[in-house]
Amino acid sequence: RVASYGVDRFLYAMRLHDDQLEDISARFQAEMKKGLSAESNAAAAVKMLPTHVRSTPDGSERGQFLALDLGGSKFKVLQVKVREGMGIRKGGVEMEEKIYPIPKELLIGRGTELFDHVSESLKDFLQEKNINLEKTHPLAFTFSFPCEQPTLNQGLLLSWSKNFRLRGLQGKDVVQSLKGAIERTGGMNVDVLSMVNDTVATMMTCGFDDQRCEVGLIIGTGTNACYMEALRHVDLVEGDEGQMCVNTEWGGFGDDGALNEYITEFDRDVDAASNNPGKQIFEKMVSGMYLGELVRLVVLKMAKVGLLFDGFVSDALRTKGKITTANVAAMEEYKTGLKNTRDILTGLGLTPSQDDCIAVQHVSTIVSFRSSNLVAACLSAILTRIKKNRSLRTLTITVGVDGTVYKTHPQYPKRLHKVVRRLLPESHVRFVLSDSGSSKGAALVAAVAQRLASRRKQVDETLFPFQMSQEQLHLVKSRMRADLEAGLKNKNPSTIKMLPSFVYHTPDGTERGKYLALDLGGTNFRALLVNFKKGLHQNTRLYHKIYTVPMEIMQGTGEELFDHLAQCVSDFLDYMGMKNAHLPAGFTFSFPCEQTAIDTGTLLTWTKGFKATDCEGHDVVNMLREAIKRRNEFDLDIAAVVNDTVGTMMSCAYEDPECEVGLIAGTGTNVCYMEDVRNIEKRDADAQRMCINTEWGGLGDDGSLNDIITPYDAEVDQNSLHPGKQRFEKLTSGMYLGEIVRQVLLDLTRGGLLFRGHVTEALKTPGIFETKYLSQIESDRLALLQVRSILQQLGLDSNCDDSIIVKEVCGAVSRRAAQLVGAGIAAVVDKIRENRGLEHLNITVGVDGALYKLHPHFSRVLHDTAKVLAPLCNVSFLPSEEGSGKGAALITAVAKQKQQM
Ligand code: BG6
Ligand code: BG6
Ligand code: GLC
Ligand code: GLC
Repeated sequence: RVASYGVDRFLYAMRLHDDQLEDISARFQAEMKKGLSAESNAAAAVKMLPTHVRSTPDGSERGQFLALDLGGSKFKVLQVKVREGMGIRKGGVEMEEKIYPIPKELLIGRGTELFDHVSESLKDFLQEKNINLEKTHPLAFTFSFPCEQPTLNQGLLLSWSKNFRLRGLQGKDVVQSLKGAIERTGGMNVDVLSMVNDTVATMMTCGFDDQRCEVGLIIGTGTNACYMEALRHVDLVEGDEGQMCVNTEWGGFGDDGALNEYITEFDRDVDAASNNPGKQIFEKMVSGMYLGELVRLVVLKMAKVGLLFDGFVSDALRTKGKITTANVAAMEEYKTGLKNTRDILTGLGLTPSQDDCIAVQHVSTIVSFRSSNLVAACLSAILTRIKKNRSLRTLTITVGVDGTVYKTHPQYPKRLHKVVRRLLPESHVRFVLSDSGSSKGAALVAAVAQRLASRRKQVDETLFPFQMSQEQLHLVKSRMRADLEAGLKNKNPSTIKMLPSFVYHTPDGTERGKYLALDLGGTNFRALLVNFKKGLHQNTRLYHKIYTVPMEIMQGTGEELFDHLAQCVSDFLDYMGMKNAHLPAGFTFSFPCEQTAIDTGTLLTWTKGFKATDCEGHDVVNMLREAIKRRNEFDLDIAAVVNDTVGTMMSCAYEDPECEVGLIAGTGTNVCYMEDVRNIEKRDADAQRMCINTEWGGLGDDGSLNDIITPYDAEVDQNSLHPGKQRFEKLTSGMYLGEIVRQVLLDLTRGGLLFRGHVTEALKTPGIFETKYLSQIESDRLALLQVRSILQQLGLDSNCDDSIIVKEVCGAVSRRAAQLVGAGIAAVVDKIRENRGLEHLNITVGVDGALYKLHPHFSRVLHDTAKVLAPLCNVSFLPSEEGSGKGAALITAVAKQKQQM
């Protein structure tokens, strides 16, 4: 076999052994890594393009779509109907298609002309198939070129490949170009929902029947592959949970020289004569557009050196394109191959001998074998990557394949499968031929996109009422202002109560001594010991202990509640070793109390989560004293009772003398501020100012907020401990925000938009969304995976899309809350400014509460809103360091000093 020996020697470099294939596979793995990483992507030869396709088909896809398939050997227009819950083989997909030839000159002309041809073909198709031109038709676009996709329906063309080279489209969004052309053509209504690469569409087509299909492979005019990558490895897309299909664009492998060792002079010649020299090096060694040409160049060279046809070279043999990939396939046909080879060579004006024919057939085999070997090497790199990603010992996976080479070359599939299985002995790889093009898969992608778009719309509609316009916020501010005034004049007592606190001054730094402070009404009960020494800001020592108040006690009898407090105090005094100290004490009691002096306070009504019996209408200081007496174990001198807002203001004013407002945004919400005594009806001193506990949570109890209250808020109010009361508080505070979120989630779930429509027990459980969870879910630093794990803890089984929606719902509810509180603050500071007849007011608001302190966005939105709504005030916010207990101790200190005077 002289000829054969000659060929072997000649084509030695094209015969790749397994160790070489393994080397190539390893190189390709490195290239994939490079393409996926944000740092190295720009310079990577293998682009690894995110596709925004996050899942393979699950059978729930449905709808009727138009499809365009551009970039393979045939341009097609199609109509695809997808029926839910049925695989393709069971008739789940119906298609009609028409091939439209593209005139050669259009392939290398202007981009707009090609797209005009595309859209005119589309219109022709609609007319021919009698498809209603009035209706809007969703369209799925398969575009088989490398595109960077910011979203599923955008694609910035990176470069042309194969036989396309058009002007004016590189770097542009081809979806826009398509839409532009459709508009120019006119007379049809088309909504381009999605654009996918042919590899992706092929994977989806095959995935409809085989759930394991997670790789799409094209060996046609061009070659390429896509696969499902773990999103955490896709740097260019935010999020790290779940999967995303990545279009490798492996045709570019070698463009940076990575394959130089394997490149022959024939490859260099093919490249030099191509549309895109230097680009798509791997593709040019593999795909249908180049295989015939490679064979021709080898045969030509062999003839020239006298190894074939006795050294004769015909004109045809010298001409580019005269041997096609179809010829290559024919030459390798079983049985008829040799005869076909003779016919082909004769057709080229040659007179081949039997040995010539055998030699040329052999050339063809080596060239096509190299192609399948290279594909096998890169494919095994992808499969190895998937296997590693998933830490699997054996990978069982299906590869969906399409393309003329794979479909028409007689030996190609068998060779490819064999080598892949040899390279990956531990994996079970199944190859499935995509039966009729990629458009089915493209339509499945569009179906998911359509479902997401409609879900998006419904979620947006649901959350719309939570969006506050500037106008609405101004209205809230003016209603707050009006009710503050009314409360001061004792009008409209059903809403804002404006309770005098009998605190006339903020601290001046002369406060001294040791005080006990008790703090009831926030998340926990706290007992503190505060020791004020020397000058202002100096040496305040503070010891404290936190006690939980069980729900049965919050809602039991008053006696039980106060006995519980006395018991906690007893424990604290033991802990401090001060049982016999008979300390002066201040009592922070964070509920509305009518005060006639600093040390008496009649509970007007419980709010938040408290509902102990026989307390409303009683003096809470007395109740505490009596509980201590009942205990008969220690003594306390309760010298002051203060609201938490007042305690907070005092505590902050100790640091900043401009602090004349106290704000709580925690379990509940409330504000106090220094009001001019002349505006206060009930007063007993001739001081200039007195701190007023507004109890602003009651705004809206007369219906004044009904225009912004959503059905979800109404539901939360109805299910609350005090229906109809504290309507403003119920829109803005920690105790209720989670419940509003839960109501919205329930509604979305019932509408099938969340949690696959399953209303679970967890979701039906009141109170599952505590403020701390809201804060966590909304944290920007938290990846979706962590959101999902929080939801998991709460018993809510979510997928990635669910977590996104839950986060949005939390965002809408907490944002509105912060804006409303901001509007309230604007009303208060503007009132203070006007009281004092100032053009401009500088003021500090002391703040406390878990919502303000722990929520990632609440405080910022609150500040921004207050700034916009009270432009004449310069408001600073100072978070309270030690809670309102310290403030209560300060008030006690003043009260004691006064008693001693
Ligand atoms: C087809 C797809 O089935 O395969 C095309 O629908 C794709 O979009 C093609 O490009 C690849 O094969 P070829 O051989 O036509 O390039
Ligand atoms: C604390 C005060 O600092 O803040 C409490 O000492 C107050 O009295 C509380 O009620 C408000 O926050 P939350 O989030 O515990 O309601
Ligand atoms: C080319 C294109 C690629 C496509 C492949 C197969 O390589 O760049 O996007 O998938 O051909 O058609
Ligand atoms: C509730 C109480 C109020 C308190 C606020 C914050 O609104 O009625 O007194 O200040 O919660 O804790």
